[in-house]
This record gives sequence, C-alpha cells and structure tokens, in this order.
Amino acid sequence: MTLSAAPISPTIVTGDDVYAPQEDSHLLIEQMNALPGGVVDKTVLDFCTGSGVVAIAAAGSGAAAVTAVDLCPNAARCAADNAAAAGLDVDVLVGSFPEALAAGPYDVVVCNPPYVPAPAIEDQVTPLTGPTQAWDASVDGRLVLDPLCAAAPDLLTANGTLLVVQSEYSGTAQTVDALRRVGMDAEVIAEQRVEFGPVMKSRATWMHEKGLMDEGCHEETLVVILATKR
Ligand SMILES: C[S@@+](CC[C@H](N)C(=O)[O-])C[C@H]1O[C@@H](n2cnc3c(N)ncnc32)[C@H](O)[C@@H]1O
Repeated sequence: MTLSAAPISPTIVTGDDVYAPQEDSHLLIEQMNALPGGVVDKTVLDFCTGSGVVAIAAAGSGAAAVTAVDLCPNAARCAADNAAAAGLDVDVLVGSFPEALAAGPYDVVVCNPPYVPAPAIEDQVTPLTGPTQAWDASVDGRLVLDPLCAAAPDLLTANGTLLVVQSEYSGTAQTVDALRRVGMDAEVIAEQRVEFGPVMKSRATWMHEKGLMDEGCHEETLVVILATKR
C-alpha cells in the first residue's frame, strides 16, 4: 500500500457484511484532510468505523492516536485487520457511545453513520436482509445522528472538531440545529450530488409514498457538517 502525506483512500478489504467505502466515506476523508493542519498530532475518533477506512486515513495522515468504534463485531474485526495490513496503529473498539465516551475526549471526531430513512418493522412488506444496520437509521434517518449531536460536546476536547457526513434526506438542518443547541458552532462545509445506490433505489417508492421524496428522484446530495466545540 502506498501512503501519500494525506491519503484519500487506503486499500481496504471488506466482507459481505461490512460496509464497503463509498462516496460518503471518501467525502468525509477529503474533508478531514482539508481541516487546517489536517489531523496531524491530533487524537481522532472514527465513530461507526465499518471497514476502518476513515480511521486508517487519519492514522496515515499523522494523527497522534486513532480510536475506531463500531457496534458490529465483524466490522470491528475488519477495521482492525485493515489497519494491521496497512501497518497503522488504530485502537478498534466494539461498541457505541458508552465505549467512545469512555476512551475520549478527542480533538477530532469523524463519523459516517447509518442515515438512510427506513420503514418501521411493521411497515415492511419484505423484511430487510443483510447488514442493514450499516445504513438503516429509522423512519427519519436520525437513529444515530441525534444521539451523536447530543454527545458531541462530551466526545470532544476544548475547541475540538466534529465532522459528520449524511444525506439531505436525513435532515441536514436538523443536524446543524441540534449541534448549535448543544452550544457548538456548526455549518455545512461540503456537498456532493450522487446517484442513488442500491439501498436508496430500493427505498425510493416508500420514501415517495411517505412524502419524504419527489417521485422519480434518482440522486441525493451528501453533505459534510463541521461543528466546533466553543
Ligand atoms: C455507513 S457505515 C460507515 C462505515 C465507514 N465509516 C465508512 O465511512 O465507509 C456505518 C457503520 O456504523 C455502524 N453502526 C451502526 N450503528 C452504530 C452505533 N449506534 N454505534 C456504533 N456503530 C454503529 C455500522 O455497523 C456500520 O459499520
């Protein structure tokens, strides 16, 4: 593996049940590396690490220490294997907010959470299959985004930075407002228009029926929100 000073996408291997890095992963890495001074000498938390792609990019970009957290043991194992294969030091934890908080606080928190709106179980015509917890995030897409915003000040050191990527369909303004409500400065710093992937394609009819999306939509805007602890 070749690492440049600010690698965008390290070589990553994933199994069937671990989220393979996609546009949202790369957009988050790009914005992390574009922070003033990048993550050099910073402590970094990659919350919802999946394959570890963002954590590994942080470790390869000179972070002082990188912690990666994922609820899914297979994802955590995958992230640890990918970090080891890259020869980079990442402390991978299986867990969620309690584990991330216990190992913190951090100078930089990066997160690509599950954010796709999903039918409530009772509304599902066909039960969802596969590693759906990587993307399904309840009817409003905010299953992880809301607790992340609430926990952000406790996860961060003074003047620490949160970078979170999400879809326009999971409430960009809600995230910005939620972060401001907990006393942080927050703004959208990047946007990228992308074609729907397989999950959004399969969800489009339901989202249209729920009034969450115009009929015939086939693209979404991904946003990266930056929030700073005052
Ligand atoms: C969209 S994937 C992102 C993976 C990777 N960070 C990337 O950018 O490619 C979301 C990941 O969050 C994990 N996850 C879902 N809910 C979580 C929670 N409450 N706490 C920690 N991890 C969670 C899933 O297991 C999945 O690996």
